[in-house]
Amino acid sequence: MKILAIDTSCDDTSAALIAENRVLSNIISSQDAIHSRYGGIVPEIASRTHFLNIAATAKRALSEADVSFDDIDKIAVTKGPGLLGSLLVGLSYAKGLAYRFKKRLIGINHLEGHLYAPFIEKEVKYPFIGLVVSGGHTSIYKVLGNEKIELLGTTRDDAAGECLDKTARLWNLGYPGGKAIDRVAAKGDPGRFSFPRTALADGSFSFSGLKTAAIMFSKKYSDKIKDMMPDVAASFLEAVVDTLVIGAVAACKAEKIELLAVSGGVSANRRLRTKLSAACRENGIELLMPEARFTTDNAAMIGFVASMKGYDKNWTRLNASAVASI
Ligand code: KG4
Ligand code: ZN
Repeated sequence: MKILAIDTSCDDTSAALIAENRVLSNIISSQDAIHSRYGGIVPEIASRTHFLNIAATAKRALSEADVSFDDIDKIAVTKGPGLLGSLLVGLSYAKGLAYRFKKRLIGINHLEGHLYAPFIEKEVKYPFIGLVVSGGHTSIYKVLGNEKIELLGTTRDDAAGECLDKTARLWNLGYPGGKAIDRVAAKGDPGRFSFPRTALADGSFSFSGLKTAAIMFSKKYSDKIKDMMPDVAASFLEAVVDTLVIGAVAACKAEKIELLAVSGGVSANRRLRTKLSAACRENGIELLMPEARFTTDNAAMIGFVASMKGYDKNWTRLNASAVASI
């Protein structure tokens, strides 16, 4: 079964070719250089850039995998959540291909893609607790089987990645912010300053208080913050990381599940990976995290989820949804 997968949910145009759980190609055309000028994603520009890049990206995915359009068995495309204009570019292109080459088509939830990314090219094991930490989402799921997914908790305000991105922008550290904070924090002391960790009793997350603490900190130390930045960034990142680690381990314990799969762009973070590994070892939890190339947005994870599902019989009715939950 050869699947051509497409993801245009946010600001990266991606196409991948999956065959029997092997990733034959996974092309990601990044828009970082374009949006960094504005310090954040400009949705209109993201849509137009997807529109420019999508055909070449899909063609490259096919040629790298040495597969032709005719050889594809199924097309998988992200239907949401994400930026509506961006999603519509991928969906329109995928529908056009399905019509032209008479292929089956399936719409895939982007979060389900992230959720399963740690299992790409591996065997999926159930049950597991899945923590998805990206720029737009911070959610914990209990996964008992294929399509047996229960949302245990989510963020009440900002996502972890959003909190990192906004704070990095406040401190002029670069774009995307999470990656920039990862880089600067590596040279700093995470114990020098104290930032708040918000633990909510119902298992949900909150990051807006932490973001406000960063703003207050900037005001208080405006004259010397630049010189202390590695320590400030490391201490701030530590609060984000601790919040996520505490939440994930608590969910595993509460549900008595000993497998934790952590995914999404923020799961690329080195400090998060180190502290999660230590916490899981201490608590007898097996930890799975995606390879670096499957952490941020990519089409391979969309194709992988599609390999566990059928297809949409009524695919002409398939539509984009900005807020789709799993
Ligand atoms: O999964 P993703 O590519 O897109 C969404 O679906 O949102 O995640 C993007 C997020 C951004 O907030 C970005 O700053 C963050 O992932 N990110 C990181 C790192 N690399 C990307 N955060 C922390 N450390 C990193 N190394
Ligand atoms: Zn994503």
